[in-house]
This record gives sequence, C-alpha cells and structure tokens, in this order.
Amino acid sequence: MASTPEPAAQEQDERVECTWRAPGRVNLIGEHTDYNDGFCLPMAIPQGCTATVSPLAEPVLEVVSAQRDAPVEIALADLRPGALAESDEWAGYVAGVAWAIAERGHQLRGMSISIDGDVPSGAGLSSSAALECSVAAALNDQLRLGLDRPDLVALARQAENDFVGAPTGGMDQLASIFGERDRVLLCDMRTLAVEPVPFDLAAAGLTLLVVDTKAPHQLTDGLYGERRSACEEAARLLGVPALRDLGLEELADAMDRLPDETLRKRARHVITENDRTLACADLLRTGQLRQIGPLLTASHASMRDDFEITVPEVDLAVEVLLAFGAFGARMTGGGFGGCVIGLMEPAQARAAALAVAAAYAGRDYIAPVSFGVTAADGAHRLSD
Ligand code: GLA
Repeated sequence: MASTPEPAAQEQDERVECTWRAPGRVNLIGEHTDYNDGFCLPMAIPQGCTATVSPLAEPVLEVVSAQRDAPVEIALADLRPGALAESDEWAGYVAGVAWAIAERGHQLRGMSISIDGDVPSGAGLSSSAALECSVAAALNDQLRLGLDRPDLVALARQAENDFVGAPTGGMDQLASIFGERDRVLLCDMRTLAVEPVPFDLAAAGLTLLVVDTKAPHQLTDGLYGERRSACEEAARLLGVPALRDLGLEELADAMDRLPDETLRKRARHVITENDRTLACADLLRTGQLRQIGPLLTASHASMRDDFEITVPEVDLAVEVLLAFGAFGARMTGGGFGGCVIGLMEPAQARAAALAVAAAYAGRDYIAPVSFGVTAADGAHRLSD
C-alpha cells in the first residue's frame, strides 16, 4: 500500500546538512599488534576532524577542505580506487568512504563534504582515521543508513585499505569511533571487542606529553607493509593463524623454530608487546597509572631493537623525557618518525619539552612541537 511519509520522516528528509567530528588517537601501548590479531590500548585525543555533508543536485561528490586551496569533484559514477588524479589524492580518504558505502549496496546521492581538521598530518596521530571516521559518521547520518559503530569502523578501514591503499590494521578507526573521555580502549583486534579502561590523567596528577618529532612518517611507502608481511610469514612458519596465538610461554620455542634473525626479532616484538599491553590494562583497571611507565619504556626498546621502526629523532626524544623524570616514554603510532609520548608529572613536562627542543637544536633536527593530551570522546555529532 502506498503511503505518505510520516511528518517526522518528511521533516528528516528535508535536512540540509549535518556535521560530525571524529578524533585522532594516541596509542598508549600495543604497537603493530593490530594486524597480528593482537591487543592494543589506544585513546582518542582532543584533536580531530569535522565533516559537514550537504546535498547537491548533480550526481557528484565535492570535497572541500579548509586546509586545501581547491575542492576536488568526482562524478558518483566514477567513484572507484585509482580514480583520483595524483594531486587530488588527499581527497581519497573522503571519496573512499563514499565508495565503501556504495560497495555495500547503499544508494549515494550528490553531496558536498567540507572537512576541517587540527590533527597534525603525518605525525602518527591518525589524522587519516579522524577524517575517514568523521565522514563515515556524517554520511551515515545524512543518508540515513542506520549503520552502527562497528559498521562505521569497517567502512573507514575499507576506505583506507582498499581505496587509499594503506595496508593498516584497524586500531586507529576503532579508537576514533569508540573513544571515551578519560578512558583508554583495550582492543582485541581479533574479535574487535573494545573495553574502556579508566585513564583519568588529571585525577592521577599526571600529564601525557606528546612530542611531535617532525621526523617524516609515511605508511604507504612500503616499510609498514614489509613489517606486516614479516609477521605473517613468521606466523605461517610457526603454524598459527596469527602471532596473537603465541604467548610469552611459547616465545623461546618460537625463537628456536624461526629460521632467520629478522623474523625472530619481528615475532619477539609482537609476542612481548601483546603481553605488555595486557599487563598495562591490568594495572590501569586498578588505577595504577604511574606503574605502567616501565611497560611503555620496554615497548619503545622493543620497537627500536626488534621491530626496528624508530628513527634517531624519536629515540632521542624518549631518552630526554626519561632523563627529565618521565615514568615511561615511547614512540606511538606506525613509526619511522612521528610522535613520542611521555607519562609525567605536569611540573616536569614543560622543562622536558624544552630539553627535547634544545637537544634537537644541538643536532640540527627540525624543531619538535610538544603538547599534552587527555583521553577524549570518539565520533560525535556537532549539528542539531
Ligand atoms: C598505524 C596503523 C595502525 C597500526 C599502527 C601501529 O597507525 O594505521 O593500524 O598498525 O600503525 O601500531
């Protein structure tokens, strides 16, 4: 029976635009464990991206960024991986989400998507996940797709993996969608279960200092994929679906069985990092924030010596933060540059940040930028 839309639905269909904000993330611990089906402990940060979606009459997607001079326009019929000109690739994180929605059989319509963000890009704080997740949430709302949070994570991840072509593991999108104020998220990357764990820095009298080392960080240049392949190869040789399936008790045996030193180091990092991540969550569940420090620092040593994804700028920042009284410090994110975090007393943070800057100046490194972060809420709607 044909029916006239309910007044409420009619009203909803006339919505002009909607705006969502989604955050970047800091990973407290559990690095390069996500694509090994393992555990990680990220938190959403106050810096993020906003996406405003409004309807267009023509069947095109227009992407406008406050950080770019010119918009990018693509016909909906042309939306597919590889369709964007090289100079327009920045818009791929947005177009990729729209493409992933269409891939699931949903109907797209002409839309303009305006984005504006304050997550430093290329710093390992997941500006790309913030962008993808804000767009996924805004499109879900505007097009009334009725997707839930795990669906939004999957869409955002599909955009990054299959449209942009970065073989990342899903932690960043999970953090951006599920983030909670004053909580880190224990993520089981096999089941995608997320457990918020208390991490109230202010109540504990602590600061989490982020040092953006400004050392270039690039995930699509092959090194990330190389690490990922090595882990998959190690799991295959050890006869397990993923390195997640090996605990500390199996470490010695795994080391005996792997044929080469590089694979042994990569596997050792992942197996020990999963264990440190779970230990860290255990301490935080009982409010022992300072006590996680040694786990953070051990994670850094493992990334430096076994996974070999740090660079001199990053190692230096960690050394200086520790010398200035950090309870623990480590690189966060994919590596090969990016940011370092230090868990500190607020009174020491400023002096520590200045000391890192002085150490960098002494070596002619690009000047770093330091700031404190707290755990913030995940994707949320800004418009009424
Ligand atoms: C990047 C990726 C994540 C994760 C981290 C390393 O941030 O996007 O999926 O693999 O590196 O932990």
